Amino acid sequence: MDDSGALRAELADQLLGDGVLRDPKWLKAFRAVPRHEFLPRFYRQLRGGDWEQITADDPGWLELVYADRVWVTQFDGDDTVTGGTPTCSSSMPTIMAIMLEALDVHNGQSVLEVGTGTGYNAALLCHAVGSGNVTTIDVDPHLSQRARERLHGNGFFPTCVTGDGALGHPERAPYDRLLATCSVASIPPAWLEQTRQGGLVVTTLHRPIGAGLVLIVSNGDGTGEGRVLPEDGRFMPLRAHAHPPALAGTGSYDRRTTTLRLDTVIDPASPFEFFAGISLPDVVAGHNWLAHSDGSWVHHHGSHVDQGGPRRLWNIAENALIDWHDLGKPRRSQFGITIGGDGQHLTLGDLQWHL
Ligand SMILES: C[S@@+](CC[C@H](N)C(=O)[O-])C[C@H]1O[C@@H](n2cnc3c(N)ncnc32)[C@H](O)[C@@H]1O
Repeated sequence: MDDSGALRAELADQLLGDGVLRDPKWLKAFRAVPRHEFLPRFYRQLRGGDWEQITADDPGWLELVYADRVWVTQFDGDDTVTGGTPTCSSSMPTIMAIMLEALDVHNGQSVLEVGTGTGYNAALLCHAVGSGNVTTIDVDPHLSQRARERLHGNGFFPTCVTGDGALGHPERAPYDRLLATCSVASIPPAWLEQTRQGGLVVTTLHRPIGAGLVLIVSNGDGTGEGRVLPEDGRFMPLRAHAHPPALAGTGSYDRRTTTLRLDTVIDPASPFEFFAGISLPDVVAGHNWLAHSDGSWVHHHGSHVDQGGPRRLWNIAENALIDWHDLGKPRRSQFGITIGGDGQHLTLGDLQWHL
């Protein structure tokens, strides 16, 4: 076994040992598909926040490729810049494995992947269910072209499409499975329309606070029901679903004391964060602030908060914490999701919130 084979086996065994890989076909795929062929160049973030480019010529490149880490491969849709907003990455293998397992795909079933990116995940899909069953779409023509070449060079021949994945790819529909490796603010109607009855859609919800990995069973008519998965999954958004930045504002404000810590509200590791996100839709967070594009903002100073703009976001967060306690502190996996004629909702028992 060459170096890459040994590193690949180590990564696959780690995913198995961690319990995220269970199905032998995914174990085989992670052992076989050469991630390094799809990552000849990527970027690593340094402590200060700057990015450094890592290429196949750098010592340590191969070990980094097979680390269980997400690697950014493009910023601002531009292949020539180092730094900016990441617009393509090869996702963290743990998250890929969780999503592939959730997809519950069987031999002979057709899959649409939205977000080809480097092509690595598409290669895993091809290995598991056969190239002829895999369609993958990316909005970025350069990424799409490069991924196609790398897939072909490694013996994988899925249908590679350049286009807006929010529209699916009707030419090859209906699909048995749809996997989105970019996140969405709401489920694009085409995804459920192009998925067979009983088919599955796996994606992540793009919510600045309280993102969620969801599994939806299609009714075959554009509607569906599903659930939020226990694992946390955060992906870069579908390009049209990215939020405009909402910066913490200035102007007049109220100051008062608080005992609620900011990380209780915004840290993905906090059990309250998912519910906080439901109560604070479209609110973005920084290391000591929250803000909404309507001009509402909070500066959190530890023991006190300043709040400005039309709404008092911190009051909303504190009330949400009380509601969350009253509801028995529900975890993300207790929430359902419905996509129906009356809109898209997150649900908890009889309660529902618009997505
Ligand atoms: C996290 S990367 C996908 C990782 C990929 N599956 C891999 O294995 O490398 C997200 C991808 O979604 C793509 N994307 C963003 N908006 C899109 C859209 N509207 N339609 C299709 N792809 C989109 C980006 O260009 C980017 O390549």
